[in-house]
Amino acid sequence: MNHAAPGTLSTAELRRRLRQTGGRGRKLRGLLALLRPYRGKVALMFVALAAATAAALAPPPLAKLAIDDGIIPGDVATLNLVVVAFVISALVYWGATYAQTYLVGWVGQRALQDLRLRIFRHLQDQPVGFYERRQAGQLISRMTNDVQALDSLVTDSVVTLFQASLTLLGTIVILALLDAELALLTFLIFPVMAVASLAFRIASADAYARTRETIGAITAYLQESLSGIRIVRSFGQEPQHARRFRELNERHRAANLATVNLNAAYFPGVELLSALATGAILLYGGIQAIDGNVTIGVLVGFVAALNGFFDPIQQLSQLYTTYQSGMAALDKIFELLDEEPDLVDRPGAVDLPILRGEIEFRDVSFCYRAGDEAVWALRDVSLTVAPGQTVALVGATGAGKSTIAKLVARFYDPTRGAVLVDGHDLREVTQASLRTQMGVVPQEGFLFSGTIGDNIAFGRPDASGEEIRAAARAVGVHEFVAQLEQGYDTQVGERGTQLSAGQRQLVAFARALIADPRILILDEATSNVDLHTEGHIEDGLRRLLAGRTSIVIAHRLSTIRQAARIVVLEDGHVVEQGTHDELLAAEGAYWRLYQAWQESAAA
Ligand SMILES: Nc1ncnc2c1ncn2[C@@H]1O[C@H](COP(=O)(O)OP(=O)(O)O)[C@@H](O)[C@H]1O
Ligand SMILES: [Mg+2]
Repeated sequence: MNHAAPGTLSTAELRRRLRQTGGRGRKLRGLLALLRPYRGKVALMFVALAAATAAALAPPPLAKLAIDDGIIPGDVATLNLVVVAFVISALVYWGATYAQTYLVGWVGQRALQDLRLRIFRHLQDQPVGFYERRQAGQLISRMTNDVQALDSLVTDSVVTLFQASLTLLGTIVILALLDAELALLTFLIFPVMAVASLAFRIASADAYARTRETIGAITAYLQESLSGIRIVRSFGQEPQHARRFRELNERHRAANLATVNLNAAYFPGVELLSALATGAILLYGGIQAIDGNVTIGVLVGFVAALNGFFDPIQQLSQLYTTYQSGMAALDKIFELLDEEPDLVDRPGAVDLPILRGEIEFRDVSFCYRAGDEAVWALRDVSLTVAPGQTVALVGATGAGKSTIAKLVARFYDPTRGAVLVDGHDLREVTQASLRTQMGVVPQEGFLFSGTIGDNIAFGRPDASGEEIRAAARAVGVHEFVAQLEQGYDTQVGERGTQLSAGQRQLVAFARALIADPRILILDEATSNVDLHTEGHIEDGLRRLLAGRTSIVIAHRLSTIRQAARIVVLEDGHVVEQGTHDELLAAEGAYWRLYQAWQESAAA
């Protein structure tokens, strides 16, 4: 699928380019690809950066000129000229820094915006199975912590790298031109600094990696605890959860403190080293000046320029940590983007026409992969549902009912065999044309934040208020909504905390009804509806199922009895099929289930 806006690279294109090279180079190329659409602004940014750096280098040589050619000879005209040059360099620095800061921000934020959008769309393209294997918290961490780390990489590092390198080079030239002997003396300090920086960055690499891991763990744990808060509370496990969180938090603090210790040791150390070096230069240069070997102006200019030598070394080594966390983030983000959705439309996939609604399972076997383990959920299932027919799937927990539903919706492809709709193998058709004609109502009626009306109209946002009310009335939720102060405009939370599970399911029915799918799958969608309401919605359910091909997975006998056909599953096999009366007469698996139901109903 190509979602990319014109002028930006599509994910597939990005991935293809990435695959051509390996390792760091590959990732940097990925980063460059993100900046490509904005290359004009990037070029401007570098021009501004170069101008700002050059302007920042000007004061020490100007100070030398002012002293040696203006102040000491008493030449006011020259002094004026130098001051004018000084002011000009200050103005250039101001303007160029302004432009550079603005452009870096502009480009960086655009690139990150593109990246977040790409990650989001990539996540949306992933099949349902992808989410069954992953923690939501980890995915959220990709979007937050990792994009944040990349932000620092793009905005800080690029600027620092360029600016510090230029400053260092420029300063080396200036120092050498001011006085070659003093310059050589200064450069002696370079190996010491380089070794210290190297040791520092090796030591800090580990420490920073640990801070990233621990913050990732915190995000993931937080997400899980918040989603599971009801269970945490009902089992009174808050103290344990708090303890675990404290532990993770503690680990994050410890990891961070390790980096703080390293920084505390390194940066003042470098400062000290440069101060000592400056002292040495001052002493040696001062003696030279007293002896008349160098001018006062040279010495002043030299000492003033020294910062331009030491600071960049420090900045560049600091850069390394930003670079590392940025790279680690880039790693994780591209690892995610590299994950090819394994359920993509085939090249040449056709759009399904308006469906009659026949479903056929042809010798379908299905196996879930949980890590290295393979779980066979369906074995050699053959099944046909005629257009407009309602089929009920029954069987014990784990028998494979939900798996059948997922295969019809093509959340997965069968491992063996084929699922066909109106004779089209689902692998040969576009997912969009299938899903627009199919409705799935899961057990947990999920509500998005927004109004009840929005939630009903979810699959058809253009539905009118009248249509929304009609759908709600048909499934029997209208009376309830009408009682609410704000009716259909009532806001519901992320999971509709203000609605009961049963009410949420009714809203989900209305949502399915208004979308008017040809094929409808109800996966235990009535299990949260109480008996009273069930009687109430039986009509609604009948209206919902009428004229559509439906697969209904239900525990309720009343719902099952309505079905034209009942399919009994056991351990992934179809063991029986027929009408309620036929299956009872056969006294087989269904009959046994029926006995159990009656006993539990009697109890
Ligand atoms: N995402 C999954 N990963 C691995 N195994 C799964 C997954 N979903 C279901 N299973 C396994 O597949 C089998 C059938 O599950 P399912 O179709 O959900 O059964 P039912 O809906 O009848 O209770 C079970 O053994 C279950 O453990
Ligand atoms: Mg199930």
